[in-house]
Amino acid sequence: MKVLALETSCDDTSAAVVDGDVVLSNVVSSQDDIHAKYGGIVPELAARRHLESVAPVVGLAMQQAGLEYGDLDSLAVTRGPGLVGSLLVGLSAAQGLALRTKLPLVGVNHLEGHVLSVTLESNIQTPFLALLVSGGHSALYLARDIGSYVEVASTRDDSAGEAFDKAAKMLGLGYPGGKVIDELARKGDRAAVRFPRGRVKSDPLALSFSGLKTSLWDFLRTREKEIRVEDICASFQEAIVDVLIDRAEKAMVATGVRRLAIVGGVSANSRLRERAAEAMDAVGGELFVPPFSLCTDNAAMIARTAILRAEHGLTGDELVATSRLPLGPRWQGA
Ligand code: KG4
Ligand code: ZN
Repeated sequence: MKVLALETSCDDTSAAVVDGDVVLSNVVSSQDDIHAKYGGIVPELAARRHLESVAPVVGLAMQQAGLEYGDLDSLAVTRGPGLVGSLLVGLSAAQGLALRTKLPLVGVNHLEGHVLSVTLESNIQTPFLALLVSGGHSALYLARDIGSYVEVASTRDDSAGEAFDKAAKMLGLGYPGGKVIDELARKGDRAAVRFPRGRVKSDPLALSFSGLKTSLWDFLRTREKEIRVEDICASFQEAIVDVLIDRAEKAMVATGVRRLAIVGGVSANSRLRERAAEAMDAVGGELFVPPFSLCTDNAAMIARTAILRAEHGLTGDELVATSRLPLGPRWQGA
């Protein structure tokens, strides 16, 4: 089954063609240049840039796939969660294409796309746990089957990516900041500063990063002696990774599932990958981390989700842009 998908939920304009589990093209036009000077995403600017980029990006995806519209079986588009202005650009473009090509169009939940991105370059079987860590989201999902997910944990405040980005901003390292912090941290001492590991008393599985962010702010304001930026980065990163690994381990114990996928932009983090591999070795589990191009926001994962849902006899989501869209019910215990 060949699907052309569009993804415009946040600040990347993407179109991709996927045939079964083979990515024929996956074009991503990043907007980092326009948001960098504000130190974060400006929704109005994101929507305007999507409007300029969407048609050329779709054209390029079709060209790279070497296909005509008549070769496709379906179209798919992200319908949420995300920035409504950005989502609407993708939805309108996809609806226009559907009218023109007479192809069916299905709406896809962006979070399901991230979770199922791992099925593109691995033969992971359900059930598996997916740690989704990006700028927009931080959560752990149990994928029981295609179309059947439980939210095992989610963040109570900031996402892991936001914590990296805000720290980079405080340290004057630019935006987005995760990659720079990761690189500097390699030359730093992880034990130089003891930052707090965020916990939520009432929910041992919940993630929390806002206290960590505040503690970095306090540390930078009140430090008495100079500490190398590499050491601050290594210590800050270790606090985030500790929290993520701890929750993933707890989720494995709670669900009894020993397969872990890490998806979303923060999965590129070298220390997170190292610690996750060690943790999975320790319990005899399996770790799956898709290539970076499939971890950050991309349309290939949206096309793949539409294909897997169709193969499992599931319908697509309705075609309404929605900023908040949970992926399955909250975990209530085994
Ligand atoms: O998935 P993504 O491209 O976009 C969202 O949906 O948010 O994720 C972007 C996030 C940013 O916060 C960025 O700082 C972070 O991923 N990131 C990293 C690394 N590379 C990107 N965080 C930690 N270490 C990295 N190497
Ligand atoms: Zn995303």
